Formats: sequence, C-alpha cells, structure tokens
Amino acid sequence: MKTVQHATRIVSHGPLNKTYYHLVLKAPLLARAVRPGQFVQIKVNDGLEPLFRRPFSVFRAQKGCIEIFYEPVGKGTRILASRKKGEILDVLGPLGRPFTMPAQNVKQIVLVAGGVGVAPFMMFSDGLKKHPAEKVLLYGGRTKAHTFSLAAFKKNGVKCFAATEDGSVGVQGRVSALFHKIRISPMTRVYTCGPKPMMAAVQKFAREKGIGGEASMEEVMACGLGACLGCSIPTTRGYQTVCHDGPVFGLDELIF
Ligand SMILES: Cc1cc2nc3c(=O)[nH]c(=O)nc-3n(C[C@H](O)[C@H](O)[C@H](O)COP(=O)(O)OP(=O)(O)OC[C@H]3O[C@@H](n4cnc5c(N)ncnc54)[C@H](O)[C@@H]3O)c2cc1C
Ligand code: FES
Repeated sequence: MKTVQHATRIVSHGPLNKTYYHLVLKAPLLARAVRPGQFVQIKVNDGLEPLFRRPFSVFRAQKGCIEIFYEPVGKGTRILASRKKGEILDVLGPLGRPFTMPAQNVKQIVLVAGGVGVAPFMMFSDGLKKHPAEKVLLYGGRTKAHTFSLAAFKKNGVKCFAATEDGSVGVQGRVSALFHKIRISPMTRVYTCGPKPMMAAVQKFAREKGIGGEASMEEVMACGLGACLGCSIPTTRGYQTVCHDGPVFGLDELIF
C-alpha cells in the first residue's frame, strides 16, 4: 500500500501508567497494510501549532485498528495526550522500511528494547508467533514507571527479562546487564530499538558474537517522506534518511 492520509477516529485513549499512553485508532486500510517496524505520522491537532506531524511506531494492528504506545515528552505529544475518544486524527502512513522477517532456520530471535523503544516490537512479536525460533525480549527502563506490563509479549511466547536503573523491576542496571541471560548461537538474530547508547552496546555485542540483526532508529522528522533530508544519519552506505531508508537499518551499517 502506498503512503496515504487517513482520517482515523480515536477508539480509546489514555494513560497506561505515570509515563506511557496507549492510543487506539480506527484505521482498517492502514491496519491491514502496515508491517512491523513501520511508522505513521500523526497530525496532533487541526491548527498550525505544531506545524509538523509527529512520528510513531505502530505498536499493534488488529481488529481494523492501529495502536500507538507513546510517552508525552514535549509540545506535540502533550497535545496528543489531550485528544479524546471519538475525535478524528489525521494520520499519514504506512511509512518507512519494516523489520526483515527472520528466515525459518533462525533458531533464536532476541529483541532488545529501552523504554518506549519497545513499541515496534509488540507488533513484531505478533508477526513472529508462528516462527519456530526461541523468542526473547530484553527490556530496560529507568524506573518502574518507565516500564510497562510485558504480559502481552509473554502471551506471544516471548521470554522476557527486565532491567531498571534503580532495580525497581527486574535486575538493577542497564539492559546490557541482561546480555548474559541469552545463550547466543550463529543462528541468533538480534533486533533493537531505544536510546542510541543502548543500541550502540547491542551493535558491539552482536559484532563480538558474530551475529546479525537490525535496529530501528529515531530522529526528529519534518516531511517524513524522504524529501527534506532533515532526518539523515551516517551509515556505512553514506547518509541515509531515517524516514524513508529506515527507520529499520542493518545493525552493522549504523555509525553511532
Ligand atoms: C520512526 C519513529 C518512531 C517513533 N515511535 C515512537 C513511539 O512509538 N512512541 C513514542 O513515544 N515516541 C516515538 N517516537 C518519538 C516521537 O516521535 C517523539 O517523542 C515526538 O515526535 C516528540 O514530539 P513533541 O512535540 O512532543 O516533542 P518536542 O517538543 O518536539 O521535543 C521534546 C524532546 O523530544 C526530543 N525529540 C523529538 N522528536 C524526537 C525523535 N523523533 N526522537 C528522539 N527524540 C525526539 C527533542 O529533541 C526534545 O528533547 C518515534 C520517532 C520516530 C522517528
Ligand atoms: S523527515 Fe524529511 S527526509 Fe526524513
């Protein structure tokens, strides 16, 4: 499906805890077309402020709806948090390059997420339900308020391990403190999304272990369509746009 503008109705919307919000939008065409790792650009209100849409990963696509899992961090996301059930939101999507589905002979799939970076992995784990590999999620957040229930991942057959910097959930430390929980083989694939230092640590770990993978990158965006080059990042293939060439890149091609 080409990227299209959708008028979507808010089916439900509200805080999940002190940090995160969950938004459900009726968008049957989008829900059918979007692939794990792709994102949408949401116009958070009808006026000119903020001028640009805000990008969000699709957390889940089911029952004719897309779901967004987000953290209000600034003007746009705070306006979004104030939008109510029944209102219409203008959404552009699907956008960007999705995750590559691992081949059937892959034995282990490791997802490494930090904070709100877990968002694209929910839909990815939905798509991996029938994959025969062992699936593992290593999830890190600053405090208990920066983590969320991993029950839906567990329901998808994903083994979950958590770490928080203050030790309020899981082990104390960064997500890299969880690397020893997994027994890597040459048939392991790793996928990561979250803060750049965390993804750089995952890249280093993957290189040391000789395993391949992908990373979903975030950059401040304007057009979201590959036209303004505002979201370009350095890679081993030269500068690439996160919105059009990504947001998913080969882990080894990223230069942190
Ligand atoms: C492909 C993609 C997928 C994303 N998916 C999600 C998601 O599923 N859930 C979610 O909560 N957020 C997601 N983000 C980040 C989200 O788009 C930003 O938090 C949002 O645009 C901030 O808008 P704002 O107006 O509230 O903040 P601003 O007022 O614009 O900025 C507030 C602070 O956030 C920083 N910031 C703004 N945009 C980004 C960005 N894109 N990446 C990193 N820092 C940023 C600014 O530097 C500033 O420090 C995603 C970003 C991208 C590029
Ligand atoms: S936001 Fe314009 S090229 Fe990516």
